Amino acid sequence: PPPPPPPFDSSDDPSLLRAASAVFAAAIESIVPGAIALGGGGSDAAARAFRCKDVRHGDYQCNAAMSLFKRLEASGSLPPGVDSPQDLARLVADAVGGMTEKENPVLCEPSVNGPGFVMCRVRSSFLEDGVNDIVRDGAPTRPRRYVGGGTDSPPSSSSSPSDNVVVVDFSSPNIAKEMHVGHLRSTIIGESVCRILEYVGMDVRRVNHVGDWGTQFGMLIQYLKEEYPDVSYGGNDDGEGDGDKGSGMPNITDLTEFYKNAKRRFDESPDFKKISQLNVVRLQAGDEECLRIWKVLCDVSRLEFEKVYRRLDISVEECGESFYNDKIPAVIDEFEMRGMISVEDGGAKCVFVPHSKVPLMLQKSDGGYGYDSTDMAAIRYRLDVLRARHLVYITDFTQADHFKMVFAAAKKIGWVTDGVHRLDHIGFGTVQGEDGKRFKTRSGDTVRLVDLLDEAVSRMESSLRERATEGRANISEDEVHETACAMGYGAVKYFDLRRNPTSNYVFSYDRMLDTKGNTAIYLLYAHARLESIVTKGKADHGIDVDAMMAGDGGKPRIVLSHKSERNLALHLRFFADSIEETLKDLFPYHICDFVYDLSIAASEFVTQCKVLGSPEMESRLLLCRATAITMRQCFDLLGIRHVMRI
Ligand code: ARG
Repeated sequence: PPPPPPPFDSSDDPSLLRAASAVFAAAIESIVPGAIALGGGGSDAAARAFRCKDVRHGDYQCNAAMSLFKRLEASGSLPPGVDSPQDLARLVADAVGGMTEKENPVLCEPSVNGPGFVMCRVRSSFLEDGVNDIVRDGAPTRPRRYVGGGTDSPPSSSSSPSDNVVVVDFSSPNIAKEMHVGHLRSTIIGESVCRILEYVGMDVRRVNHVGDWGTQFGMLIQYLKEEYPDVSYGGNDDGEGDGDKGSGMPNITDLTEFYKNAKRRFDESPDFKKISQLNVVRLQAGDEECLRIWKVLCDVSRLEFEKVYRRLDISVEECGESFYNDKIPAVIDEFEMRGMISVEDGGAKCVFVPHSKVPLMLQKSDGGYGYDSTDMAAIRYRLDVLRARHLVYITDFTQADHFKMVFAAAKKIGWVTDGVHRLDHIGFGTVQGEDGKRFKTRSGDTVRLVDLLDEAVSRMESSLRERATEGRANISEDEVHETACAMGYGAVKYFDLRRNPTSNYVFSYDRMLDTKGNTAIYLLYAHARLESIVTKGKADHGIDVDAMMAGDGGKPRIVLSHKSERNLALHLRFFADSIEETLKDLFPYHICDFVYDLSIAASEFVTQCKVLGSPEMESRLLLCRATAITMRQCFDLLGIRHVMRI
């Protein structure tokens, strides 16, 4: 028989799911040697552990007995005395129960349920070790397993180091247009996705693919030239866009209005239209004046985008559509050389891909390049120059077909290989107002993002002040604003992140700022409450958790005696698996679910167990701290600032 799977070493792999699976695999191997290999797919697949749905029956279960019984029956190799899947399950349970703690540090109390499920508890000693590790490291144990390239394995050691590179294309607003709630979603989700990938050791390129190129610039340049005549001659031609000369930076407070006016003139005046079209040609040919005005437009927009990014702690590097302009001809040549271009009647150059009636248009009939051309040059650049193995694009769902075609064309021409590269488009749903319609202000205008964010903060400020007048605040007046920012921005982000991004959602300040329920506000309060217990432990009882954490380490100090303590420690152990779950589909809501469940377990613990002044005080304070540490790690991955006191 093939060799048994190697013993599981939980010191290098914090996944509880894999730890439990390894125990079940070892138990099955001991009964039917070779059974795991026989099942194919390694121990993970054949003896996979699942979290029990009903926690009264157990923590983890193995459902392998049923299919294994069938296989053994078919091959006539059932062990003696086994007449049913239940019999087999009972043997597996006995094997789990019979292992020493060294062989099986993870599972205990095996029992058989239903048609052959083996149900187990996680050993308290294993849970205690987990909490001790968090306390020792000051952080939850980081999963290193990366789920990429469509497979479940880390990059092979023979591959080049650039295998680590992931490009995340997010935020990506358009120059001279207002950044809207759709871009806000992309920005919030993208920032979190980047943080998660960085956390597991990926080299993440955060790319802001701003719409800074295209035919609309012809009219915008002309309009700017006519309405702000000093700009182009303002002397600020150092190209730095630093706006230091005053006249170099027009004061366009409302870009949407500016865009609308330019468009109106374009539609109404044939002369204006003609000269606008000429500007496009000039700009693309590198005309200096046009470029200078174009840069001014970019700078004005950039200032607006920055306001949002600064408020939300977003870091993203601009590499807009214009960057790819000179890379497009070579890409078209490449498609041409491979005979993949179809020329349409008007002369447009198109690429057809499987499963799509509409083609990608690499060059328009007038010779110009569009959105498709740019994205093909961009994907080429990211794969070839940045050497990315994984590309992520985050836009609203209406662009799903566009990215399907881009991915298919990249595959067809051979830039992308199945099993090596991974391409993801996260297409999120729309944001609706409370009336169920498109999100707008009361007067029907589109909502400026800066105003939207300010509103969340100012509502939070009033709620914190109200708390202060009721004498419940732990913060002083000069901390109110900063705390309100953390909570208000956190609330907006969490409200978006906590759901499956593909769903639409209704924007509601009341719901996102609710102190109860699955909101950032609830979580931030829960976290601050744990830290306030730790603070009181020191002030009133002289137990200094920081000193304990900095102490000798090693020695286990956590003792789990009460049911709710054990439950909290079990939830802490789910951390690594929740990160891995997130890496599969890149939906941060898995982390939201995790931190929400964790905080519910924590609040049960602090209501059911006396911490301050109890005989178990030391251990319980450490448990509070370990929970707070893990919550902070989650907040950080979601891009939410935490506060220690509220
Ligand atoms: N600027 C586009 C928009 O506002 C999003 C760009 C997304 N990224 C890309 N590579 N196409 O819809």
